Amino acid sequence: MTAPRTPAELGHETQRLLDELARVTDEPGRVTRTYLSPALARSHDLVGGWMRDRGLEVTRDAVATLRGRRPADGPGRRTLLLGSHIDTVIDAGKLDGCLGVVAALVALEEVDRRGEKLPFAVEILAFGDEEGVRFPTALSSSSAVTGTYRREWLDVVGADGVRLRDALVAFGCDPEKIPEAAIDPTDVIGWLEVHIEQGPLLEHWDLPLGVVTSIAGQTRMGLSLVGQAGHAGTVPMELRRDALAGLAEIILMVERVGRQGTANLVATVGRVAVSPGAGNTVPGRVDASLDVRAGADTPRLVALDRIRHQAERIAEKRGLGFTLERHVDVPTCPMDEGLQDAFARSVLSLGLDCRRLPSGAGHDAMAMARRFPAAMLFVRSKAGISHNPAEWTDPDDLGLAVEALIRTILDLAAREPQP
Ligand code: GLV
Ligand code: MN
Ligand code: MN
Repeated sequence: MTAPRTPAELGHETQRLLDELARVTDEPGRVTRTYLSPALARSHDLVGGWMRDRGLEVTRDAVATLRGRRPADGPGRRTLLLGSHIDTVIDAGKLDGCLGVVAALVALEEVDRRGEKLPFAVEILAFGDEEGVRFPTALSSSSAVTGTYRREWLDVVGADGVRLRDALVAFGCDPEKIPEAAIDPTDVIGWLEVHIEQGPLLEHWDLPLGVVTSIAGQTRMGLSLVGQAGHAGTVPMELRRDALAGLAEIILMVERVGRQGTANLVATVGRVAVSPGAGNTVPGRVDASLDVRAGADTPRLVALDRIRHQAERIAEKRGLGFTLERHVDVPTCPMDEGLQDAFARSVLSLGLDCRRLPSGAGHDAMAMARRFPAAMLFVRSKAGISHNPAEWTDPDDLGLAVEALIRTILDLAAREPQP
């Protein structure tokens, strides 16, 4: 047995691994690691190596989730699931998702260093499709683990024109084996996910850690408008069917609806593809994303109805074809109270005040909660900045999060019934 590491040392080690993982990118000079990309494959080599070094058996499932498992000592034992995602947004920070995987690895290593024996198996999951950046899916890899993967996702086409099914096969995965990725919930203690807050509350309260109560529901859609492409010099203004001008009107309407909602409603158009995309051609077609979220389901559903209705009117007035396709629809998701309490006991045992807060961002815990007790520990984010390379958390806070995770694992171990 080696000497236990202090939270400061654990934070230093966590930061070291996060820095190394951030160097694995599809775009030199910035962190971009989207689902099934070459960088995601290289990150599997790196993280898989870390898992093996810590005595885990490493596998990759049919949707490219990297899994490191340490079986229990004896038969009849249950499994504790830990982790988060290692895909990123475009030009990301180093922490979103990656922290949950790295914190689990550092925590498990430390449990061993302290000579603690766990009465359950542990599996660390590093998901690949949480962000939903390359394909219009999101949370698809955690959905596979819960047996709720939707087959129609295999036919969606990514921003680069590649079909998800083909990208999976090119990555070495077999889509026919997706049902085998599901984990039987009867054997699972729960899912614990450590994540940066990505918002300003913990910083405002001057607290490094907080326990998540629930996660805002989210709907993600693809919106298309079809008009007529034409010569920018010859088609008179009154005869145009300009798809991009129609979208501009719709985007401002979406912003208005978002501002008028309750329960922290937010509505975003974040991606626009214009065709044919030439400066001297009237835009004939646009494809855009629509992302609507709220802390309660009714305000989100009401906003979606209003957006659809008003967008149809705008399209009709402008003579544009209009389609809206729902890709992701996840209701507001409460976290498991027993596991929230386990996290809270650990935070309090560190001599810290413990407050609970909802999450506006989406997380794999939303999909995991469909089948398993799930809980999240948030770590303070500098200025609440995320989905931005300026995302930052003090390594001392990272160390406290890892120490809290260690204590939570040991707390659950002490409560685990004998088989
Ligand atoms: C993931 O970061 C999301 O909330 O979109
Ligand atoms: Mn995340
Ligand atoms: Mn994210």
